[in-house]
Amino acid sequence: MTDALSILVVHGPNLNLLGTREPEVYGSVTLEEIDAALEAAGKEAGCQIECCQSNHEGVLIDRIQEARSWASGILINPAGLTHSSVALRDALLATELPVVEVHLSNVFAREAFRHHSFVSGIAVGVISGFGPQSYRLGLDALLGHLNAELADAD
Ligand code: DQA
Repeated sequence: MTDALSILVVHGPNLNLLGTREPEVYGSVTLEEIDAALEAAGKEAGCQIECCQSNHEGVLIDRIQEARSWASGILINPAGLTHSSVALRDALLATELPVVEVHLSNVFAREAFRHHSFVSGIAVGVISGFGPQSYRLGLDALLGHLNAELADAD
């Protein structure tokens, strides 16, 4: 039943620098590689994946709002906005779409200010600490959630 599914993948500020940004924390895999892996996994599952990254909160909010018209769910690494943005949370809530939050690093093993997320409370679930694999786990979790919803609706 995944043919009908479309997922918006959102990457927050500074994630365009993956591969060179603090590699000891975030690893050496680039954002392009992460997106390519997600698109390949989506194709395999018969699901359309659209990826976007911006360093600008308003651009991310516009993309999230647009997703109301076409997406089945949202996979998001809000990056630094996780810990600061009520507006991003409000935009996600406004879509009424299921959201899965992912982080490359284990935010709970890091500085205290990273322990609070404005997104987690409205997400289906959160995956944190598995490097690029967090995205893949998040995609699988979101697809599983969406397929369960479709099965319930039948
Ligand atoms: C991050 C964790 C955030 O605290 C940080 O601001 C990021 C990346 C992660 O993927 O581990 O930019 O979201």
